Amino acid sequence: MLLNVLHRRILFVGGKGGVGKTSLSSALALARAQEGGRVLVVSTDPAHNLGHLWQRRVGDDPIRLADTAEGGLVDGVEIDPHATIDRHLAAVERTMTRMLPEQQHAQVRAHLERARHAPGSHESAVLERIAEAAERGQRDYDLVVFDTAPSGHTLRLLALPGQLAGWTDTLLRNRDRSERFSAAMRGLAGRSAPQTSAESELRQTLHRRRERFDALQRDITDRERTGFVVVFTAEALPVAETLEVVESLDEMRVNVAALIANRRSPDDAGALLRARRTVEDRQLAGLRRRMPDAVIAEIPLIAGELTGQRALADLAALLRSASSPQGVE
Ligand SMILES: Nc1ncnc2c1ncn2[C@@H]1O[C@H](COP(=O)(O)OP(=O)(O)O)[C@@H](O)[C@H]1O
Ligand SMILES: [Mg+2]
Repeated sequence: MLLNVLHRRILFVGGKGGVGKTSLSSALALARAQEGGRVLVVSTDPAHNLGHLWQRRVGDDPIRLADTAEGGLVDGVEIDPHATIDRHLAAVERTMTRMLPEQQHAQVRAHLERARHAPGSHESAVLERIAEAAERGQRDYDLVVFDTAPSGHTLRLLALPGQLAGWTDTLLRNRDRSERFSAAMRGLAGRSAPQTSAESELRQTLHRRRERFDALQRDITDRERTGFVVVFTAEALPVAETLEVVESLDEMRVNVAALIANRRSPDDAGALLRARRTVEDRQLAGLRRRMPDAVIAEIPLIAGELTGQRALADLAALLRSASSPQGVE
């Protein structure tokens, strides 16, 4: 039942730091690949650990993490926002310096440096890569799984496309005195017709970004296409936060595909863990009362080291057999 979520095109996996987002993103991806699917896992958490988990070097371009006997595959990417900002600003700088006389080049560079450090530029770069991965991923793969940064942060990012805040706008905002520079910037901001081919080229690039953000906005609110999986541990604080995340997602009209209670304590491994399990049972019962229609799955606490494809295959098997907890009163 839980694995129905895999038949969407895009999954966002969110939750607090350390709850098991990367492990479960990868296991979900592998489970889909074991059905013959082509899957891309994209880590957007600055604290990347996808490479560590798969024991591979993962970077800004997709690399193969697994091929399955069923003809499926898993590729992985760790998004590097700094590389994105560098690439984008370098392209803008090349165009701007072609557009403007040489004595203004220093000014262009100073302006772009400000854009680099403007509030939101980091988030905007991550968002741009998410939009790009969603677009490319849906073209080249059956499923894209985003292993996201801790919940609050990702929700802010997902809310961003509508506002389009950040460095594109900073870039377009005119703060410079030079008339010609200002005129060029105004032109880019769309207030006058482009004067040169370089200018219209730059404008096209910015327009393309905006289109990409709009497409992302459409995709993430398309309930058939996209789902959000919230990973948590069944303790008071994480459960309270999970409810808040679900509420925010509802407000943003993003579908909550499943909640996964990870690292469930066993009831047959001593008094300490049994006591923990009782606490978790109570928390899960409370959550179920609050969300009677949600898919809430449980993954047990695993004894061994969770790294490498073998361990991930075991976790994928657990996901396959995961069930919703019984309402424990
Ligand atoms: N079900 C589980 N049982 C035992 N350890 C787990 C389980 N799920 C995750 N872990 C471990 O918990 C740690 C954090 O998991 P990770 O997937 O990196 O979390 P996140 O990406 O949310 O920070 C890792 O060491 C991982 O191996
Ligand atoms: Mg992680």
